[in-house]
Order: sequence, then C-alpha cells, then structure tokens
Amino acid sequence: MSTIVILTGAGISAESGLETFRADTGLWAKHRVEDVATPEGFSRDPALVTGFYNERRRLAAAARPNAAHRALARLEAEYDGEVLVVTQNVDDLHERGGTQNLIHMHGGLNTALCAACDHRWPAPAKMHAGDACPACSAPAARPDIVWFGEMPYQMDRIFDVLGRAHIFAAIGSSGNVYPAAGFVAEAARAGAHTLEINLEPSSVGAQFDEALLGPATQTVPAWVDSILRGA
Ligand code: APR
Repeated sequence: MSTIVILTGAGISAESGLETFRADTGLWAKHRVEDVATPEGFSRDPALVTGFYNERRRLAAAARPNAAHRALARLEAEYDGEVLVVTQNVDDLHERGGTQNLIHMHGGLNTALCAACDHRWPAPAKMHAGDACPACSAPAARPDIVWFGEMPYQMDRIFDVLGRAHIFAAIGSSGNVYPAAGFVAEAARAGAHTLEINLEPSSVGAQFDEALLGPATQTVPAWVDSILRGA
C-alpha cells in the first residue's frame, strides 16, 4: 500500500487569517520566543505565557479551515493508500477541515497538560496560571504546547511512517526548526519522492525533488487533484 506523509507548518493556516512565525509581521516579530515559547519563560511568567496561548486559542477558534486543509482531507478520504498529516501547527484547522489521520507534533491549543502528573484534558477557552489539574489537583496546568527545548510528540511513529513513505510533501513551513526540518532527508533516505509546497523556497528547499510555489489554497488543491488523477 502506498504511503503519503505530509508535514504542515504555519503557512497552511495563513490564508485562514492566523499569523505565521517568521514573517516580518509574524509572531516572533511581536514576542520574544524565550519569553512565550520556552519552559523557562513559562516558569518566569506563567501568566504572560498562559495569556499568549489564550489569545492564540481565541484566534484559532475564530478562524476557519481553508481550501488547503479541505484538500488534504479529500486526499485522505479518496486516496487508495495511507495518508498521514504531521502538523507543527497548534491550531485545530486540520481536524475541522476533515483530516483524521493527524499528529500534532508540537501539541495543540485545545488541550491542557498537568506539569505535575502529565494528565491531559480539554483546555478551557481561557486558562489561568495556577489552574488546578482535574486529576491530581496540583496548581500545575500549562498549555499542551511543545516549547523550544522540549521533545516533540510521537517522534517514533513519525519516523516509522517516514521510513515507508512513497511521497513526502512539506506545506507552509520555513524549514528552520528541527526535527521537522529533517523529515525531508529521512523520507528521501526511504526513497520517497519529496516536494515542497510553499510561498517561497524554505531553508531546506534544495533537498526536495520538486517545488510547487504559491499560496497553499491554490497549490494544495491542485496537487491533490494531480495525485488523485494518478498524474
Ligand atoms: N501559502 C503557502 N505558504 C505560506 C503562505 C501561504 N499562504 N504564507 C506563508 N507561507 C510560508 C512562508 O513562506 C514560510 O516559509 O509558510 C512558512 C511559515 O514559516 P514559519 O513562520 O517559520 O512557520 P513554521 O515553519 O510552521 O515554524 C515551525 O517554529 O516557532 C516554531 O513551534 C513553532 O511550529 C512552529 C515552528
């Protein structure tokens, strides 16, 4: 059975109105990564970090999946093989666009995590620093986001599927953050055909066999049509 692995980044949600990270007006132009996306930043100022993710949760809830998210769901439903989406994004637009076989390797806005006992539960719209864990009652609730310096989720499963990929596509990612930026090399080692679908070549663009440049809401549906046509 043929396997397609698709890595997505912030660029696939850009046309849904959610900011990317490294654009000139992006999230990292407005916030210091070390303040809002590291465990040290959280322990230094949990209220600031919790507020940052409350705002991103609010914006994600107000956003809608776009044609690129929906095209990937159509691919999963109609392709005669396995399709796995591995997203770096913490919004839920893939789920709401219909994708089911999905890994959030950097966590998600809609889950809360207990820093004391690792319990997870649906995040309220607004979390507050010191919220109690519903399982162990410790005042240790945190956003279930993988911060810099922490281990992304389900890496074993991701590398297992990459090892048998026939096609690997990276969509809307700048290729600046590992381990995700290393997935193309892993897929190529397995003999997969690799393509990058992005506004412009990423930092690892040269490692791909093929590039489709342009806005994801145009390039992704066209690519999915070509796959389902057997082109
Ligand atoms: N269509 C396609 N690609 C787009 C679009 C669009 N409409 N808009 C932007 N892009 C591309 C940009 O050209 C860029 O290459 O999406 C990419 C977004 O890159 P980043 O902002 O760096 O986001 P991402 O690659 O997802 O960041 C990876 O870094 O900060 C951490 O944990 C965070 O998951 C994030 C990780």
